[in-house]
Order: sequence, then structure tokens, then C-alpha cells
Amino acid sequence: TGPNLFGARRNSRGWDLTDDADLADIAAARAPHEATLFDARPRLAGPVAGGARIDIRNPATGAHVGNLLPAAAPDVETALSAARIWDAAAPERAEILRRAADLYEAEFGPIFALLAREAGKSQSDAVAELREAVDFLRYYATGTETLTAPPRGLFVCISPWNFPLAIFSGQIAAALAAGNAVIAKPAEQTPLIATLAVDLLHRAGVPQTALQLLPGDGTVGAALTRDARVNGVAFTGSTETALKIRAAMADHLDPTAPLIAETGGLNAMLVDSTALPEQAVRDILASSFQSAGQRCSALRCLYVQEDIAPHLLDMLAGAMDELVLGDPWHLTTDIGPVIDAEAQAGIRAHIDTARAEGRVVKELAAPEIGTFIAPTVIRVKGIAQMQREIFGPVLHVATFKASEIDRVIDAVNATGFGLTFGLHTRIDDRVQRIVERLHVGNTYVNRNQIGAVVGSQPFGGEGLSGTGPKAGGPEYLTRFTATPVSTVST
Ligand code: SER
Repeated sequence: TGPNLFGARRNSRGWDLTDDADLADIAAARAPHEATLFDARPRLAGPVAGGARIDIRNPATGAHVGNLLPAAAPDVETALSAARIWDAAAPERAEILRRAADLYEAEFGPIFALLAREAGKSQSDAVAELREAVDFLRYYATGTETLTAPPRGLFVCISPWNFPLAIFSGQIAAALAAGNAVIAKPAEQTPLIATLAVDLLHRAGVPQTALQLLPGDGTVGAALTRDARVNGVAFTGSTETALKIRAAMADHLDPTAPLIAETGGLNAMLVDSTALPEQAVRDILASSFQSAGQRCSALRCLYVQEDIAPHLLDMLAGAMDELVLGDPWHLTTDIGPVIDAEAQAGIRAHIDTARAEGRVVKELAAPEIGTFIAPTVIRVKGIAQMQREIFGPVLHVATFKASEIDRVIDAVNATGFGLTFGLHTRIDDRVQRIVERLHVGNTYVNRNQIGAVVGSQPFGGEGLSGTGPKAGGPEYLTRFTATPVSTVST
């Protein structure tokens, strides 16, 4: 659980996938939702117009998972004019957010089912994601109790498909904890789980006028962010979209309205010759391939010290051969699909180019159906050779000599991104020196570099990776309030 920055709050226990009783509970709770059709639609404090119905399909199997009635232009207007700040007292808001966390845990059956069927998440990813969502709700609920500043007004929360429950709920919980009204625009790939989550928040007692949902494509988000009634935007997604949102806000909003953006990364890990190879391999595998590499925190460019590179890469290739790719509904699946055919095509094109240049050093086989990308290792000279973030299970590997460490760190900094960094070494001075030189939000030493824990590992980057403040950290809520919490010095 780690230390808690807010008093006696504890992170959730979650489910133990090595425990037979927990596994039986999951199987029983998910079973009724294995083939049901879910519904996503705008949740408005007013009538819903809706656009043309869209099928949502399982990325692993192509099966129909549910139907989306996307928001139409009149729905955006309805939401904007019906939004009201949440004027309940802070202790009441906190209680309702905690009740929502309890409801999320109670409804783990449909949540796990949708995380697998709509988002392609393996069961262990789904467990981690539900835990994180619940932890965000409780963490920001507790944060409410020490907030003194008033809400800003109306927040638009735009969230990604790779954490369709945790990041979606975290943004909303923070904005609501501070007393704002929220209009949430979930990723167009994952509206079903967003609708389920909003229904649970409403059931817990969040007023309809304080939380509305507008599922749909980027045009919905664009219409929202340029509207002058919006007092702030919380966004997680690509750096490119964040820049567009900032431009829209510059033209149309109150100049003090914040954009809280968590964006991409070009994350590196450095493994020197003092590292424990077994541990490094395990952590490389998790950092680059877990969640099919679809984490902004994921490892993209591994630097291995030249002397140990052949041995370490051999071990890595052997460990990769043990990975099970397949339908994440099955508990044995390690790696599910990437989110959709467009993502698959983009990643494939990148791998094909590298293959044509003779730089693919290890590749697994992908299932024939579904939008899978098999975990792949590509040789590069260095991170500078990577022009963009490849958001999938593709690891790039470079080697370095001990005398080149400063240069490697400078190259990492020079990408302009600064999200996560992994370091495997047994030399304490080296840790110190590297950490001082690096410009990244979250550095992980002798472990993997994914899965930041709410409260103990506030998560967020610098430069092109985001604006801060870090999610799941003590500063986050204050950005959702109108004035900073004042301090008095004597
Ligand atoms: N918070 C997530 C992680 O730490 C973001 O991808 O992995």
C-alpha cells in the first residue's frame, strides 16, 4: 500500500490472482457478462438527441460488445447549459466519492468483463485498473477534506482508452472532489465502461447536473474545449491533441482556465553491467509488453551496457517466448490485442520498416484474428533514432559503454519528453548522478517502470509529457480550485 500522503487512507486490497477463492469470485462475477450487450449513451441533465448508433467490438475477437449512441451537437449544448457546480459541503462530497469507490468494487463483475471485452485488458491489468480507479476516488475524497479554495466552475475531462476506467475516474473524481461541475468525454473506443462508471457515480449520489457524460469522437471534445463556459480542461492523451486543446483554450476561454494535460512519453531504461540480469529481464518484459505496451509509462528504448548485451538479450528473448498472447477473457493470457485496427496498422508499419532494414532482432507470432501485435524487439543506435512514441508492444534496444552514460542521459533528455525512466544498477553513486541529470517525472530504480501507485507514486511528466501536477499526488486537487491554497509565514 505504501505511505499515504493523506492521513489514514489505505489503497484497496484488490484481487489476488494466485488465490483460488479470489479467482472463483472473479469467474462467477464475470460469467453473466461474457456475452451480454452493453449500452453507452450520453448521460445528460436534460433530453438526449444522439447521433447514429455505433457498434463497439471486442478488439481480440471482433465480437459485438455493445452499442453506442454518440453525442450529437445539441447534446453538447444541453450539457453545457445544464452543468452546475457541485454545491454539497466537502464532507458530503467526500462521502459520496467513497460510496462510489465501494460501488466500483461491488460491481467488479461487469467492470472486469468490460475491461477485457471492450478494452482488451488482461485479467491482471483489469485488477490493477479497478484498484487504481478506486484508489483515485478515495484519495481525492480524502483530499477534499483539506481543500480551502472554491471550485473553478465547469471542468471538461477528456480521457484515453488505455485506462478507460482508472484515468477516466481519476480526472472526474479530482474535479468533483474540488466541487466543480464535470462534463466527461471518454475515448471513442471505450464508451461502454465510461457509461457504466458514470452510472455508478450517479448511484453513489453525484448529482446529474454535476456530472454529465458525452461519449463520441474528437468533434465532441473539440466543441467542448473551445466553449467559453468551460473553466478548465483535464486531458490525458497524445501531446498533439493537448497542443490543439491549448490552442482552442487560448482563443475562447478565461485566460486563467487551466489545462491539466498528461501526454506521451519516449521512455528509456538503462541497464548497466552490475544489474542482476534475471531481475532486469523480468522488469524489461513488464515495462515494455504488459498491457500490450499501451501505457504512456511503458519502456520504449532500452539501453544495455555493451559487455552484458548479448547475454541479457538472449535471456530476454527466452522470456518473451513464454508470453501467452490471446483473448484477455482467458486468465492465462499475458498480452491482449492493441486497441483497434488503426493502431495495429500504424505499429505494423513501424515494424515492417525496421524489418526491411534488418533491425528486428526478436519477434513472436500474433493470433490471426483480432488486432494483435506480437511483442517485437528492434535494434536502434539510440533514442534519437526514434521519431515518435510507438504505442504498442515494441521494444527498441541500444547498447552503451560505461564512459557514455552522461551522453545517453542527455539523449533521453533531448527527446523533449520526460515521463518515466528505468534504471538497473547496483552502483549507488550512479543512481544519484543519473537522477540529478535526468528530466523525467517518474524514475524507477531496480524495478519495472509502469503502474504508478496512487498516493505513493504521484504520476506525471515534464516537457512534452505533460503540464503537471501529478495525478494521485498531493498537488493535483489544487489545480481544480479557483485560487491556490494560501500559506502564511511568520
Ligand atoms: N499511470 C500509468 C502507469 O504508471 C500510466 O500509464 O503505468
